[in-house]
Amino acid sequence: MDRITAYLAHLIPHRTPFLTTATAFAPSNIALCKYWGKRDVTLNLPLTSSLSLSLAQGSTTTISLAEKDSVALNGTVLENTSDFHRRLFQFLDLIRLTRTPLQVQTHNDFPTAAGLASSASGFAALILALNTLYNWQLETRELSLLARLSSGSACRSLWPGFVEWHEGTRADGLDSFAEPLNIDWSDCCLHPCILTQASKAISSRDAMNISMQTSPLAKLWPLHVTEDLAEIKLALQEKNFHRLGLATERNAKRLHELLHTAVPAINYDLPETLALKKRVEALRAQGHAIYFTQDAGAQIKLLYLKNEKTLAEIKHLSALLPA
Ligand code: PMV
Repeated sequence: MDRITAYLAHLIPHRTPFLTTATAFAPSNIALCKYWGKRDVTLNLPLTSSLSLSLAQGSTTTISLAEKDSVALNGTVLENTSDFHRRLFQFLDLIRLTRTPLQVQTHNDFPTAAGLASSASGFAALILALNTLYNWQLETRELSLLARLSSGSACRSLWPGFVEWHEGTRADGLDSFAEPLNIDWSDCCLHPCILTQASKAISSRDAMNISMQTSPLAKLWPLHVTEDLAEIKLALQEKNFHRLGLATERNAKRLHELLHTAVPAINYDLPETLALKKRVEALRAQGHAIYFTQDAGAQIKLLYLKNEKTLAEIKHLSALLPA
């Protein structure tokens, strides 16, 4: 038995559908401390732990028994040669024993180009729907272990609020799951700023591989994450927003330094990205508690407290570009 088959056999009680259709919702999540780098590619095990905040927006996914495999994203049926189709059914092939044809329909309640990890919420909603379709009755922690195989950050999209994905130490991957932190801080807001509608030139998967293999900063990354994660968790416990913002921003900057020093260098910044980061710094110099984070893309996500006075400006900044 190969490692992935053994892993799934441990988690999934059976592979016979119980219902003909099932639907589930999962929130999108933004990492405050990023997942970057794998210690095991087959089982999709991360090099380090990571921590995210879930958003109100997310994906609703329906999975149904059908006559042939298909996937529709926001109402549009995708070509079976598309990357999304291939990736999705590669994952479903691991789950279904026989090639039971399946129809998948996913709706995101945010623009696809918003730089929100639609793969994370889409795959998390899919796992929740599969749990109902097959009547597995798995615990959310076990669903997180399954979601990790589809897309790493999907394992954090099963809960609202602050969620930590534990890197784990076991070779079989069964201790690398996410769980919610017991922190109630709903005043803490994240606002994604849509700075471009263009899809990125290099996928995060490729950027992760290239940067971790070639950047001289790659060896420092686990150490940096240990520092940033500890700082973020402390800030959350203290509800110290300034501390949270600084550590979140530092982690995003460290990720982008890693990308800039890869060979070849990877740069996701557009002029609009750089301008917005400068604006955030200027607002801070004027006394506003606003911070940013940035994933593997040009979009910026603003971190602020609900009562922030410059909220109108934040909304304006996030609509800098025509839709
Ligand atoms: O889960 P993936 O394979 O799409 O990678 C996500 C990587 C980042 O979004 C950049 C960081 C993160 O922790 O979400």
